[in-house]
Formats: sequence, C-alpha cells, structure tokens
Amino acid sequence: MAKVSDLALLLVAGMAISLYIQEAGAVKFDIRNQCGYTVWAAGLPGGGQQLTQGQTWTVNLAAGTQSARFWGRTGCSLDASGKGTCQTGDCGGQLSCTVSRAVPATLAEYTQSDQDYYDVSLVDGFNIPLSISPTNTQCTAPACKADLNACPAELKVTGGCKSACVAFQADQYCYTGSYTNSCPPTNYSMIFKQQCPQAYSSAKDDTATFTYPSGTDYSVVFCP
Ligand SMILES: *[C@@H]1O[C@H](CO)[C@@H](O)[C@H](O)[C@H]1NC(C)=O
Repeated sequence: MAKVSDLALLLVAGMAISLYIQEAGAVKFDIRNQCGYTVWAAGLPGGGQQLTQGQTWTVNLAAGTQSARFWGRTGCSLDASGKGTCQTGDCGGQLSCTVSRAVPATLAEYTQSDQDYYDVSLVDGFNIPLSISPTNTQCTAPACKADLNACPAELKVTGGCKSACVAFQADQYCYTGSYTNSCPPTNYSMIFKQQCPQAYSSAKDDTATFTYPSGTDYSVVFCP
C-alpha cells in the first residue's frame, strides 16, 4: 500500500502538470478603450464591461478556446442591474453578454488551434474602429481604423453600418444558395475592403486571417 507521503507527492505532481497545461494555453486579452467616448466592451466568452476613455478590461480565455469574439457597444443605456439597450452591438439587452447579436459591430475574432488565428471582421457590419494584436511583438496588428460610418445610405443605421448581407439578406451578398461556390467581391464588400484592407469584408474573404504561435497574450484596442 502506498504511503501517505507518496500519495501527497503524486497529488502535487498532478497539480503541477495541470497547472503547466493551463499556462501553456490560457490566453489573457486586454481590451482597451482609446476612443474619446465610453464604449461598453463585449466578449464571448467574457461577458461585458463599461469602459470610459483610457480604461482596460482583462478577459482570461481557457486553453483551446475557439471562436472567441470581442466588440464594442455604443450608446448604451443600462440600469444598475446591467439591463437596457445599446444603439450598436447590443447583446440581448445585457451588460454581460451571453449571446451574439452584435449587428452592426466591428469584431475582433480569435481561435486557438495548432496555432493562434485572429482577425478583424466586418461581416456583421461596422460600428467603431478596432485592432487586435499579440502583446509584446512587432507583428502588424490587423486593424480597421477608417470611419466606415460614411457608408451608402442603404447600409446606414444609427451609430454604424450594416454589412450588405445583413441589410439585404440576399444570396449574392451572404454567399449562400446559388452563390455558395461563386463568391466574387460585391460592390458593397469592396467599399469595406478599400477602407479596411486588413479586415474581413465578407464571409468568403479569406485574405484577412492572421496567425501567431500560441502562448502569447493579446490586446484589443477600440479606436487604435
Ligand atoms: C450595388 O449594386 C446593386 C445591384 O447592381 C445596386 O442596386 C446598388 O445601387 C449598388 N450600390 C452601390 C453603393 O454601388
């Protein structure tokens, strides 16, 4: 029979191994608001937090997190319990998001797999400029800094712009139906692409994914 001290040693070794695995893959996201106005940051996973100019919100993602997304909400009116509405990027009227109904909203996306994949997406439209980048590297951040709120009237909503797919729900803009395998850029996606070449302008625009070896932390900046 194993001695108590052997069991204790095994337990400590097991804890050390699981700690090591977590440290190798867990990722810290710092989400900073550099806009000259208040932004209600949203994260899935993560929830949400109000950020006045200059404030940072830290979200820790577990190892192997897939399809994480961060965005900013504007024009929110939330009560003390965190319920209300936001003009753009609203997530079911909650300060702490559990669902993604961010239309329109500029998105920062992250997936950890064999390496890290990250991008800025305009697939759901645009509300505020943002960037995403590994912390402490010289890597070029994908960023969308242009003010795309100067978009065609048919895409315009208060505080932002819908993507053509969201606005028209048509196969040619969403690359669905007969357009599933034929996906030329459209006159609308080209407007987004010209102003923010580093960002996804449509669901079939695969020129905008950035990769980095896993094991680094990330910064998301509103109004970079
Ligand atoms: C884009 O093309 C559609 C269909 O041809 C047209 O109705 C629309 O006015 C165009 N929009 C812009 C901004 O060029």
